[in-house]
Amino acid sequence: MSELVILKFGGSAITRKKEGVREVRKDVLDRLCWELAEAKKERGFGVVVVHGAGPFGHVPASDYGLSEGLKSERQVVGFSLTHQSMEELNAIGVDSLIRHGLNAVAYQPSALGILRKGRLSYLPTKVLIKLLGIDMVPVAYGDVLIDEVTGINILSGDHLVPYLARELHADRVILLTDVGGVFDLDPEDSKDAVLVKEITPGNIDLVCKVSASKGTDVTGGMRRKLDELIGLTQSGIESEIVSALEPGILKRALLGERGLGTLIRG
Ligand SMILES: Nc1ncnc2c1ncn2[C@@H]1O[C@H](COP(=O)(O)OP(=O)(O)OP(=O)(O)O)[C@@H](O)[C@H]1O
Ligand SMILES: [Mg+2]
Repeated sequence: MSELVILKFGGSAITRKKEGVREVRKDVLDRLCWELAEAKKERGFGVVVVHGAGPFGHVPASDYGLSEGLKSERQVVGFSLTHQSMEELNAIGVDSLIRHGLNAVAYQPSALGILRKGRLSYLPTKVLIKLLGIDMVPVAYGDVLIDEVTGINILSGDHLVPYLARELHADRVILLTDVGGVFDLDPEDSKDAVLVKEITPGNIDLVCKVSASKGTDVTGGMRRKLDELIGLTQSGIESEIVSALEPGILKRALLGERGLGTLIRG
């Protein structure tokens, strides 16, 4: 198979997460899909898109206490509603990809996967390989899943990305978010925050100030993202966190440029 890229469209970038408004930033989403389509035309790689949640997932998941272990019927209602809300966001993403000429198809984690204390213990990927083989673009997302220990739990998009990267032996892993990478301090809190160009298990203490997220986020924000990606380096796969808000970055990264944000490597 040709080069395989796992791409995450962060919820902070494609929705109005920080304002706490349950709306898609159509301009950002459409531009990302356009940049992806342009780069794919030029370079012909395979790609799996994973998108995050923003208020579509984090807010109902928080309201219904979906990461607290299954204790009440109300949480089961929350499972259904949170998933439905994520499907709505997914449909908007798939629609934009199709309008830009990509053969996008939704991949529903809650119908397929099982968690064990919030980590994937099972998620079939054979179908993804087959879909990629006929030039389709599977579009997966953070979702609510059955958890064999806690009953139900949240599958974070930031956990799904390294899982897919390992299972599918990805060549590139690129996460787009609303900041230009990982900074020594949360850039939202400090205008003196400095971008850390490269993070390894050796210099991770440089970024000990990485915090969660300003918007509602039930899956640990930037902190968890980084922990997941450091974990991925143990499988010999590096990843990059880059800005979704700066036009052109995604296309340049997909065409092979490195160093446009923060590189996470072993
Ligand atoms: N040291 C840091 N460097 C960069 N960003 C940081 C740092 N500490 C906290 N953050 C926050 O992390 C946020 C990105 O994480 P967040 O989980 O909100 O994004 P996302 O993964 O794109 O969204 P979603 O979880 O909805 O998919 C940034 O908006 C930033 O404010
Ligand atoms: Mg997040």
